[in-house]
Amino acid sequence: MKTRQLVLTVAGVVALGVFYVVFAPPSVPDLPLPTDVAAITRGAYVYNAAGCGSCHQPEGAPAPTGGYVIAVEEPFKNTFHVPNITPDPETGIAGWTGADFLRALKHGRSPSGGFYWPAFPYRSYKEMTDEDVLAVGAYLLSLAPVRAEVPDHELPAWQFDWLMAGWNLMAGVLEGAPPPVESTEPAVQRGAYLARALGHCGECHTPRNGLGMMQLAQEFGGVAENGPQINAEGLSDWAVDDFRALLQLGMTPDFETVGGEMAHVIEHTSKLTPEDQDAYVAFFMR
Ligand code: HEC
Ligand code: HEC
Repeated sequence: MKTRQLVLTVAGVVALGVFYVVFAPPSVPDLPLPTDVAAITRGAYVYNAAGCGSCHQPEGAPAPTGGYVIAVEEPFKNTFHVPNITPDPETGIAGWTGADFLRALKHGRSPSGGFYWPAFPYRSYKEMTDEDVLAVGAYLLSLAPVRAEVPDHELPAWQFDWLMAGWNLMAGVLEGAPPPVESTEPAVQRGAYLARALGHCGECHTPRNGLGMMQLAQEFGGVAENGPQINAEGLSDWAVDDFRALLQLGMTPDFETVGGEMAHVIEHTSKLTPEDQDAYVAFFMR
């Protein structure tokens, strides 16, 4: 009897421990949001380079008031309504701290400890530097608050956000690692950061497994309906200037203009500094 009780107690403690590890808010450095103009300006640049507006800022809108609908048919029928990320106290993100932004962008966790869905590309943004995350946070909080209510996501009844606890843990293992970047040239390294962390190019161009996790060993290997292959093999016919023309004008070597979701991507790559465009070229055409 005693042994049985002991076993149950130990099992209980282990279960609590596992529960804690899986559900506890991730620990992030308690860094303040910068308030200086330089950081806010830098944050505006990061906001563009990371394509935040593609999802959060409706066409022609002056601020990221959300409202876009992301419909995901496969593997489950999900409809996500992108939230308002202006600092409105009721419908936006007023009062967010540096730690809130770090948890959201790098761990997919909300200030109340909830789990975001990976329609918010935090699996890519987790590679962002803390400095860039804080800068973009500072920029968002510097905007004028706009009241804009967005409907709740429409998900099947069994899809609870806490399921993402397990998904995140598994993704940490099953996504694997992208091919190493051999070159230590600063432009190539910066290009890797732009493509992987900020530009989140892999979200559309890297194949996923059945659970929707990117398969990073096949980074940029192409996805049938989503994004074509843009690894060395996919770009073997492209010249350096072709890639630059794509980033600036959205034009491919066959003089076609990229459409659909890629058109939104060009809206941000075309506004990057020439140095950052060169970095993209250096990384993809290496
Ligand atoms: C591909 C579309 C997409 C992009 C790009 C994107 N987001 Fe989001 N974002 C979402 C979705 C969808 C959610 C809601 C997730 C949820 O509710 O589970 C979200 C949620 C958020 C939230 C939480 C808001 C809240 O009220 O809890 C913040 C903050 C945020 N995004 C900031 C950003 C920033 C900053 C960037 C750029 C670095 C960015 N997002 C880029 C789709 C996107
Ligand atoms: C939201 C999804 C999405 C994201 C993010 C995305 N792409 Fe694309 N990309 C596409 C789609 C879809 C196409 C095909 C467009 C077409 O054929 O009109 C495409 C086309 C391309 C092409 C042309 C390929 C060819 O052979 O014609 C290149 C190159 C490319 N993308 C590079 C990038 C880079 C670099 C990034 C990151 C800055 C990126 N993409 C981010 C969806 C995306």
